[in-house]
Amino acid sequence: MSEVQVQNNYKLSSKNLDVTYVNNKTGAEVTALQNINLDIEEGEFICIVGPSGCGKTTFLNTVAGLIKPSSGSLWLENKQVEGPGQDRAMVFQTPSLFPWRTVMDNVMYGVEIQKRVSAETKKRAQEYINMVGLKGFEHHYPHELSGGMQQRVNLARALTVEPSLLLLDEPFSALDAQTREFMQKELLRIWSETKKTSLFITHQIDEAIYLADRVFVFGARPGRVVDIIDVNIPRPRDLDIKRNPEFLRLMDHIWSIIEKESTKQGFE
Ligand SMILES: Nc1ncnc2c1ncn2[C@@H]1O[C@H](COP(=O)(O)OP(=O)(O)OP(=O)(O)O)[C@@H](O)[C@H]1O
Ligand SMILES: [Mg+2]
Repeated sequence: MSEVQVQNNYKLSSKNLDVTYVNNKTGAEVTALQNINLDIEEGEFICIVGPSGCGKTTFLNTVAGLIKPSSGSLWLENKQVEGPGQDRAMVFQTPSLFPWRTVMDNVMYGVEIQKRVSAETKKRAQEYINMVGLKGFEHHYPHELSGGMQQRVNLARALTVEPSLLLLDEPFSALDAQTREFMQKELLRIWSETKKTSLFITHQIDEAIYLADRVFVFGARPGRVVDIIDVNIPRPRDLDIKRNPEFLRLMDHIWSIIEKESTKQGFE
């Protein structure tokens, strides 16, 4: 262990985290994340927003254990993250389903690679298929499903491994606007049933505010946390909260920070 952590009750803690990419051929360095200090509570829904290239995916991949910090550390339930593990599951932008597998077999894939196929995990897979609204589609193939339904399969697959942390990287960005809003509402319903600590990346500010307990705003070059916004809008949340004055105030606030950051980066 590179560092001794003071015991705390946070689900996830990032301490002075830096990530630098080094190009193998040229040796050129890109500092993707600099000095990220964040604490996340058990059961929180966190959204991360920020301009393109500010290190959101890098942060999620580091939490997933796919990227090693260049310095600093990450702690999951007071244990240092040193690689991937069964306690974390990712949902990516594209559903990445196997076309030759049925919905059930795609959902079981996560537990299959963890060698945890059993009557119990099959039962659980069915429960999550029901929860994401795909009851009756167990034996369908991905090409028979809409984009939103495919993303539900992806979500059910992640939930079936029963991770203690759910990592979602722009999971709805490939969906049309209406399906996307519907999926946001569905995700909140599923989250309220499972209470899984979730880290959700999005480019859409309204999506972040609608879903999150707190929104982390990342700034660019190098990626760092520029603001943390508490969303004090009561739950359960209906989609019409997007017209509520507090919601619009938070939209304006986050938008102005991101605009400033994007301008700094030269994305005017
Ligand atoms: N494998 C890599 N090798 C070198 N540089 C990388 C690598 N992956 C990302 N980067 C760089 O690190 C920075 C952060 O990238 P990252 O993908 O984390 O940003 P992001 O916030 O997720 O962007 P987007 O919103 O476009 O998805 C960028 O400057 C990017 O070019
Ligand atoms: Mg990204």
